[in-house]
Amino acid sequence: MKLIDTVRQLRRELKPHRARTVGFVPTMGYLHEGHLSLVKRAKAECDVVVMSIFVNPLQFGPNEDFDRYPRDLERDAALAREAGVDVLFHPSVREMYPEPMLTRVEVSEITDRLCGVSRPGHFAGVATVVTKLFNIVQPDRAYFGLKDAQQVAVIQKMVRDLHIPVEIVPCETVREPDGLAMSSRNVYLSPEEREKARILSRSLFEARDGWSSGELDTPEEMTEFVRKRISSVPDADIDYVETWSWPDLKPLGTLHDGKFIVAVAVRFGKTRLIDNLLFDAKEER
Ligand code: PAJ
Repeated sequence: MKLIDTVRQLRRELKPHRARTVGFVPTMGYLHEGHLSLVKRAKAECDVVVMSIFVNPLQFGPNEDFDRYPRDLERDAALAREAGVDVLFHPSVREMYPEPMLTRVEVSEITDRLCGVSRPGHFAGVATVVTKLFNIVQPDRAYFGLKDAQQVAVIQKMVRDLHIPVEIVPCETVREPDGLAMSSRNVYLSPEEREKARILSRSLFEARDGWSSGELDTPEEMTEFVRKRISSVPDADIDYVETWSWPDLKPLGTLHDGKFIVAVAVRFGKTRLIDNLLFDAKEER
């Protein structure tokens, strides 16, 4: 595995591989099985796999966790190598942003809800850095986790709108044995918070059962059911529980037509966790 930290070196490294299929897995590091599942899928479908590790300041709000976001390059490099990453790109903030940026990539409407409301500017930061990374790596395929479903929707729309020549491959959420979606931020949780955090996935799975059995029949019923279940846990501070059509994130009249998402964001102490489930009315009951 090659460890590269400048754009120039990366371009030079990838030049001989241009005729082959390049797969790309962008991350902010502190790797876990969720990230590695993306590498596994990329390995299966591409000749060369590039991973980036870059904690992108542009996507963090002023009161968010940019400074304390967990970082461990040595451990990440070992995990990436073991997983079969061919090139690990780990640029500095200076390398990615050598001069003040006067350009932003912004996707409207689908960023007006869910995390876009509680994290103003977040998705513009994501869309901008992902565009930069796509221009640097020029991958044929890029792998994104559905754990961050809104991010997938935003990137897919951006790629279509701007004719960026890359195929976006959405990948299933990887969970801990008790259902908690894997996240680099799970390390912030105290043992008590970790226990309470099980309610995110549990409430979503229960909602799925309620939908399958016909007990939950409208978007409002889905949302209310999940909200009530999460509220029953002490110290679970709900940021949002929402049900939208998928992937355009529009209001939903019925749960019997097309695809939809139930998404949650909940704070435990200082830690904000997100989770979601996607539903397809075709697979109903
Ligand atoms: P990060 O949070 O490190 O996640 C990198 C990729 O791993 C994202 O596509 C994310 O959805 C995926 N991922 C995280 N947890 C997962 C899980 N439990 N199961 C499956 N996939 C999971 O998302 C980002 O970084 C950044 O916003 C980035 C796209 C790199 C831009 O800075």
